[in-house]
Amino acid sequence: MTTDAAQRPPFDKTRLSEAAADRAPALPTAVVVEVVDQAASTNALATRRAQAGAAEGLVVVTEHQTSGRGRLDRVWETPPRAAVTFSLVLRPQLPADRWPWLPLLTGYAVTQALRAAGYAAGVKWPNDVLIDDRKVAGILVERIETPQGPAAVVGIGLNVTTTAEELPVATATSLVMEDPDRVPDRTDLLATLVGAVWAEYDRWSGGGDAAADRLRAAYTSACVTLGRDVRVELPAGEPLTGRATGIDATGRLEVRVAGATVAVGAGDVVHVRPAV
Ligand code: BTN
Repeated sequence: MTTDAAQRPPFDKTRLSEAAADRAPALPTAVVVEVVDQAASTNALATRRAQAGAAEGLVVVTEHQTSGRGRLDRVWETPPRAAVTFSLVLRPQLPADRWPWLPLLTGYAVTQALRAAGYAAGVKWPNDVLIDDRKVAGILVERIETPQGPAAVVGIGLNVTTTAEELPVATATSLVMEDPDRVPDRTDLLATLVGAVWAEYDRWSGGGDAAADRLRAAYTSACVTLGRDVRVELPAGEPLTGRATGIDATGRLEVRVAGATVAVGAGDVVHVRPAV
């Protein structure tokens, strides 16, 4: 597997603008893509753009992320041209209690896009995308305040040609590590992922209760955490150990602990790990 930048082509900006003009293969009309060679964090850059008035649909993508933000203050760096690293600005016109579904919706959309591309992906609650129990994509959704009202910055990092040596932990993977005979085109992947997230968002945000129910059922069927015995680590106190049984209407994970069902929200947990 190579780390040679020459073997890692840049995003094809011409093809991206053609896709934007033709709206093919998957880019909806609201989407505007800005490619930057290097960024500390696409979430930070997209936040600045949104606070300066960027409309819903702005996508900020970088070839090289140097100090990206992960959950729990972790860092998410991506080597030059090895990943699809981007953030999408959304401006949901929905009550605040619906927003916790955005990370789950995103994890589900990325999982479905990878499955459609032939990878056996699944989503670990709330939004890690795994292949064979190894993390291939991380997602960080941040709610921000802007002069136009609250917005969501949906950040996605997908490891594409990243090697085992470049990955921060042994439990991570990349598309090329999973299938070394196939080097996916990052320009196509970017358009496909943006299109998939947008389609789910569009359906969910405009569809009321029926769309919320549909997303919950779809997410549940793609969620690899359910049916497993898990240990839920909380910021304080003893971990919860039990069987993950469901996702409630607000997107919380339901865990059966000592005969009772306990629901935990993504913001409340430090880790969910398999119980051994
Ligand atoms: C995690 O699993 O901890 C979440 C990682 C999220 C990383 C993505 S990469 C693109 C976007 N920009 C960031 O700074 N973070 C997110």
